[in-house]
Amino acid sequence: MLIGIPKEIKDHEYRVGAIPSYVRILIDQGHKVIVETGAATKIGFTDEMYKAAGAKIVDSAKDVYEAEMIIKVKEPQESEYSLLKENQILFCYLHLAPDMPQAKALISSKCVAIAYETVVDSMGQLPLLIPMSEIAGRVAIQAGATALQMANGGKGVLLGGIPGVRPGRVVVIGGGIVGTEALRMSLGLHADVTVIDINVNRLRQLEDLYAPALKTLYSSPVALESAIKQADLVIGAVLIPGKKAPKLVTRAMVQMMEPGSVIVDVAIDQGGCIETSRPTTHSSPTYVEEKVIHYCVTNMPGACARTGSEGLNNATLPYALKLANLGYRKALMQDPGFIPGLNACQGHITHPDVAHDLGLAYVPPSEILLNK
Ligand SMILES: NC(=O)c1ccc[n+]([C@@H]2O[C@H](COP(=O)([O-])OP(=O)(O)OC[C@H]3O[C@@H](n4cnc5c(N)ncnc54)[C@H](O)[C@@H]3O)[C@@H](O)[C@H]2O)c1
Repeated sequence: MLIGIPKEIKDHEYRVGAIPSYVRILIDQGHKVIVETGAATKIGFTDEMYKAAGAKIVDSAKDVYEAEMIIKVKEPQESEYSLLKENQILFCYLHLAPDMPQAKALISSKCVAIAYETVVDSMGQLPLLIPMSEIAGRVAIQAGATALQMANGGKGVLLGGIPGVRPGRVVVIGGGIVGTEALRMSLGLHADVTVIDINVNRLRQLEDLYAPALKTLYSSPVALESAIKQADLVIGAVLIPGKKAPKLVTRAMVQMMEPGSVIVDVAIDQGGCIETSRPTTHSSPTYVEEKVIHYCVTNMPGACARTGSEGLNNATLPYALKLANLGYRKALMQDPGFIPGLNACQGHITHPDVAHDLGLAYVPPSEILLNK
């Protein structure tokens, strides 16, 4: 199969759909790969490295979109819509449900659009989303520790403390993927860490793994208030799948924090779980409200585009290989968890929730996959 790797054009997006080592594996399995010039130069993967892996470098996105399968990171941008082709496989994040212009473009192109974020594994998890949550959880502690420094307006607390001086107090709200990475990083720094979750089984697992260093609390307004008013750093990492994040931390609770304390609301991409949060960007990541520093960047993994590309590639490669080796029909039919990834196909919306949110007709994937 001819596979194309375009350069990402979304604002400040430096990740790439396939790094050279991934390209090499595709080529070793008999496929041809074309890569847009400069696709990953910013993160240290040069055109020469892609050539050494066996790829052909082309000058423009238009040339890349001649391929039978496009592997990229973010959803196609407006200038890419007209490049999509009938029966071409598009494998990337789509976040299609709130994006009618993109949905119309995918429908009219009749391409085969498979979204990373809706592929499911045998345990019901979202394997192509997890690496990005892992990065966000770890970045949260780095960003929080930096914001706590005096020069950045913070109160000057070192998360690990030193012998004879208390460590920083970190409160992680939500002990899922993001929360676990955040609490692991802060325990590693020898901070004083508390995790708050509404799922007692999850707290039990975390306690098995990290007690006695880690303290666990069942989520309630009283528990949140008592933990937050003493916290130096609060990490918001709550998720109720498919819903806006609940505002668990009220403005009144934020007012109880010491001036110069820090909040990192990772859940901001779902609206944020802190009443005083509002979305920020990498170019201006923090603001101060109620004398507390807020970091609320909506695409935190973008801060670490190299790690992000490698982590994303590790997760997507087995799926990309199945698509390339078997074609999309066989690849999807052999793996039931792959089928929910199919969001749009041959002019139809093929994911029920996406179709519902867009108010468009839903065509079950089976109707298309079985119809040769
Ligand atoms: N800003 C970014 O760049 C970025 C990057 C990745 C993920 N995220 C976001 O981070 C959030 C967390 O993602 P995740 O992958 O860790 O999700 P997850 O499903 O793995 O974990 C969410 C946790 O929240 C807990 N929770 C739900 N309701 C709660 C409540 N009332 N009180 C306390 N805990 C509660 C759940 O029990 C679960 O353990 C999501 O909103 C996700 O979209 C943001």
